[in-house]
Amino acid sequence: MSLIDRDTAAYLDASLAVSHRVADLVGRMTVAEKVGQMMQWDAREDLDHIILERHAGSILHTSPEKVLRAAELTAQTRLRIPLIVAEDCIHGHSFWEGATIYPTQLGMAATWDPDLLERVARATATEVAATGIHWTFSPVLCIARDLRWGRVGETFGEDPFLIGELASAMVRGYQGRGLRDETAILATAKHFAGYSETQGGRDASEADISRRKLRSWFLPPFERVAREGCATFMLGYQTTDGVPITVNDWLLDDVLRGEWGYTGTLITDWDNVGRMVWEQKIQPDYAHAAAAAIRAGNDMVMTTPGFFDGALAAIDAGLLSEGDLDRAVRRILTLKFELGLFENPRLPEAVRISDNIATAAHTALNLDVARRSLVLLRNDGTLPLERAGSPARRIAVVGPLADDAQTQLGDWAGSSGQVDWMPDGQPRSQITTVIDGLRELLPSDWELAHARGADILTWEDDPAGSHFPDGQPRPRVVVAARPDEELIAEAVAAAHASDVVVAVVGDRIELVGEGRSTATLELIGAQTALLEALVATGTPVVVVLMASKPLVLPEAVRDCCLLWVANPGMQGGRAIAELLLGRIEPCGRLPISFAEHVGQQPTYYNQLRGQHGDRYADLTQRPAHVFGEGLSYSTVEYGLPALEASQVGLDDTVRVHVTVRNTGMRPVDELVQVYVRDAVTSASWADKELKAYRRVTLAAGEERTVELAVAVRACTIVDARGERIVEPGAFDLLVGPSSRDEVLQSARFHVVL
Ligand code: NOJ
Repeated sequence: MSLIDRDTAAYLDASLAVSHRVADLVGRMTVAEKVGQMMQWDAREDLDHIILERHAGSILHTSPEKVLRAAELTAQTRLRIPLIVAEDCIHGHSFWEGATIYPTQLGMAATWDPDLLERVARATATEVAATGIHWTFSPVLCIARDLRWGRVGETFGEDPFLIGELASAMVRGYQGRGLRDETAILATAKHFAGYSETQGGRDASEADISRRKLRSWFLPPFERVAREGCATFMLGYQTTDGVPITVNDWLLDDVLRGEWGYTGTLITDWDNVGRMVWEQKIQPDYAHAAAAAIRAGNDMVMTTPGFFDGALAAIDAGLLSEGDLDRAVRRILTLKFELGLFENPRLPEAVRISDNIATAAHTALNLDVARRSLVLLRNDGTLPLERAGSPARRIAVVGPLADDAQTQLGDWAGSSGQVDWMPDGQPRSQITTVIDGLRELLPSDWELAHARGADILTWEDDPAGSHFPDGQPRPRVVVAARPDEELIAEAVAAAHASDVVVAVVGDRIELVGEGRSTATLELIGAQTALLEALVATGTPVVVVLMASKPLVLPEAVRDCCLLWVANPGMQGGRAIAELLLGRIEPCGRLPISFAEHVGQQPTYYNQLRGQHGDRYADLTQRPAHVFGEGLSYSTVEYGLPALEASQVGLDDTVRVHVTVRNTGMRPVDELVQVYVRDAVTSASWADKELKAYRRVTLAAGEERTVELAVAVRACTIVDARGERIVEPGAFDLLVGPSSRDEVLQSARFHVVL
């Protein structure tokens, strides 16, 4: 094999155009080097083998030591092509010990604040880039509709418009000022597309979804970030209409590359190519699977070791030509040149690491996000606990999650199961639990008692084995904990001796994530028995629901204060304590609806019109809490919305003015929401859809008139032919504090084309 003259090789000349360098390098590569370049390997495999024998293009799940070792190895290869190093940095640098871990994506979505999320992604990128990682598999743009799905907490919730706003912000944050910027990392829009449309909430099942439905709600957030330059897209696990997304020509060629003109890089999800052989059984062997995946336009193949021999065999058998590989290889190399990796492989640097990981500024940002992510759903007047002139109080803090630091971080963090090098999770000292937060903030003459009160679960190994056929760990089987009389008695005694109970309950990592969907939405284990016993004491109970996703709470706490905190990250406990005490104003709003009962699924607000009746025979369809909902410690009155014009054309913008008045005694951070209802549509359509929102802060008693705008071009439906159009006629613009019909006030406008 010829050696490269490093002084004359055009691809090593940084002054040449990227396209020129790519063409030069591709021209020098062997078939095996090309196949290898398309492969991303789990770095826990043997690096020497991956790099020297398999010519790997990328690795994931790695440590700085391994990144450095991998760089030494690539330096020994003929062409010295640097690796792209990837990691799931999902809500912070998930698996870097001591990095800043923010609330989960669903928690962050409750802020409804794109600027804040852009700052989180930017801060994360600086932490990640310092550690030698170039690519994060974030954000998730899936629409969460079935709450039983284990990955609801990884999403931005149920609304395509809000998802688009927040995803776009995170992509901007990750990619910074462009890929040349050494603090930029590649963002990934995932999981393209429809992955969340599960059967019965079961993860990665066939997504029964029509093209029209995809175009209506599932594709728009992806289209937005594709057009805005999100560098990479990850293709989900699911099949639709019998076709895995990995080989879905319509979605990949016609829509993504064709209609949207996307020129970024596509990566499969974990072993998607192998799955076509061993799981979905739609390809007879790896040669056919590799040929199908390459022809469909995949660029990087994640963790399918058999792809190497499969692709080579496919070429030998005439299923593929070498030229078929070039398109993918060119894209991957283009990324590497654009990142400047040939000149600077961006290896981990000790000084940059200590300068960037968990800085004071990032910790402050994390606290800010946590504060803004908390959603107060019910308040019987017990909250806030601290008021001017109130006497010293005794607080019983109970529940299995009051002091569970790792659970507070949620999935994709430390010990959540995807990596094996942090069995104890993120450093306890960096995490503030609810107990920590209250202990720190309570006035000195207040008393705090703590009792766990209940356990959630234990687990057993899955009798089917410890790992799936693809090598990923198989989740352990959950065994719900039984009520423990002693634990409950202790909590009840604490409640009797206190003025108020703060009960921190919810879910745990064993009930959350990939392959961990739940059949029910109820609190697992002894938590319901605990809540019932606490309520029976007559001491007011404040439920802090620390749950990755909306859960259904027991009847006993129907009237209690309820605060949903998702998995609020390292600063969560402090933020929760501040909110309970009243040091901050609650301002989070639900990015997803809460069901009253698991059988109401799905409960998302933007449902299609048209069914017989509007309830079940044995239950209403009314969700417990709807998209957009969230209380403050004050009250707000909305005036009637006033439109600037009631007749508008296609290029116009509908402008609405609404007066909001803080009628309570405390400041308020109100989220004014605007939904649009198309009165008559040519094909069945959502009854209303979020089109705009705006935050307004009001001092006690203050009144302000705010303006919100909706472009007429945004008032679309997807018609029966699958085309997105604005149909002329009457529309209602609905303004209010949530998506609940009862709190929305409407103004009619007409679109004239
Ligand atoms: C599988 C998950 O579905 C995906 O979200 C993740 O990025 C990859 N594994 C890599 O860990």
